[in-house]
Amino acid sequence: MKSQTNVKKEQSSVPPVFIVNIVLRLRRFLLRFADSIVPAYLAVYDHFMGAAHTSLMHSAARLRIADLLKDGPLTAKELAKITESNEDVLDRMMLVLVSINVFKRLPNGKYANNKVSKGLLTGTIGSIRGFTEFFGMAPVLRSWEELPNTLKDGKTSFDRVHGESVWEWMSKDQTALSNFVEGMSSMTEVVAPSIAANYPFHEVKKVCDVGGGVGIVLTAVLRKHPHLQGILYDSKTMLKEASTHLNEWGVADRVELVPGSFFDEVPSGADTYIIKTVLHNWNDECAKKILFNCRKAMQPGHRLLVADFLHSEEAISTLVPFMDFAGMMIYSGREREPEYLARLFKEPGFKLNRTFELPGRQAVFEAIAI
Ligand SMILES: C[S@@+](CC[C@H](N)C(=O)[O-])C[C@H]1O[C@@H](n2cnc3c(N)ncnc32)[C@H](O)[C@@H]1O
Repeated sequence: MKSQTNVKKEQSSVPPVFIVNIVLRLRRFLLRFADSIVPAYLAVYDHFMGAAHTSLMHSAARLRIADLLKDGPLTAKELAKITESNEDVLDRMMLVLVSINVFKRLPNGKYANNKVSKGLLTGTIGSIRGFTEFFGMAPVLRSWEELPNTLKDGKTSFDRVHGESVWEWMSKDQTALSNFVEGMSSMTEVVAPSIAANYPFHEVKKVCDVGGGVGIVLTAVLRKHPHLQGILYDSKTMLKEASTHLNEWGVADRVELVPGSFFDEVPSGADTYIIKTVLHNWNDECAKKILFNCRKAMQPGHRLLVADFLHSEEAISTLVPFMDFAGMMIYSGREREPEYLARLFKEPGFKLNRTFELPGRQAVFEAIAI
């Protein structure tokens, strides 16, 4: 059992999904309304500064500024001293971040956390610190320079720039891997309890988490349903990280760790397969191959739970369209609407049965093997 001191803290209570959706719609309306009033050039400025914002956010995350401000406000001088940065540059960086509502500046000139910058705190559920550092790392940013070529040929920019996939790069770069695992884990921690609580796992005996990362979903499901056994399937590198996690959470004895590639095969022996935030990393050809390998491991009637972002033409938040495009640039990915997934399932031998929405614009798509 994980000790209380290791348990990550919730940043704050998460409001119900429908409330978040209403607020996101309202925000989109207000932003469009503001854009319709201010001169167009001011609105355009806001949008083309994105690359600078990514780099500034990356530096704030890398220097762990939010953690430094956890115990109280600090001046730029104090922050610069702790982070061994140039005081003037750091002060001006903080001012830009304050202008986009990340951190606040107090009347006495000290900087403090606000609701948004708390999303960068290390060790809190839903923290986006790891991804903020990851998406601003130089090799990832370099992919965006290739956009003109990707626009022409549709090929993945990262692979073209670096001559290897993002997964190969991460298996050799410990900082990239740690940032990715941190970001992925905290995103998954937000939805894992909801998957474990809302799906009828009492009807299931053994669950295989395909590309299960460090096993956060599997852990939540096994802890909630003590009769279940699990298989965690991922690369050797990822499973090394996973063992620590599974031991800490007291489920290691119920989980078989199987290293391998889902492009070669998927282990058989489970009656339910989970594949969370994996299909969205791949183009249709690769996603189909993974689905075919899942289907080969399954019997008719077995279930496949695909958890991914909930894509729709009516983008109520900027997150999913961004993930769709960034995913294509960095790892050949695609976010898919439920109808798109239903079509993709057909050839490998699945039928989309039902969908339920999770927090953070994610959803579980239940497919049945036919
Ligand atoms: C975006 S992460 C999702 C992790 C986990 N399912 C979650 O939601 O927290 C994608 C996972 O796919 C794994 N992966 C990538 N290529 C793989 C392959 N060829 N075979 C098995 N796993 C792979 C990665 O190691 C990573 O853990």
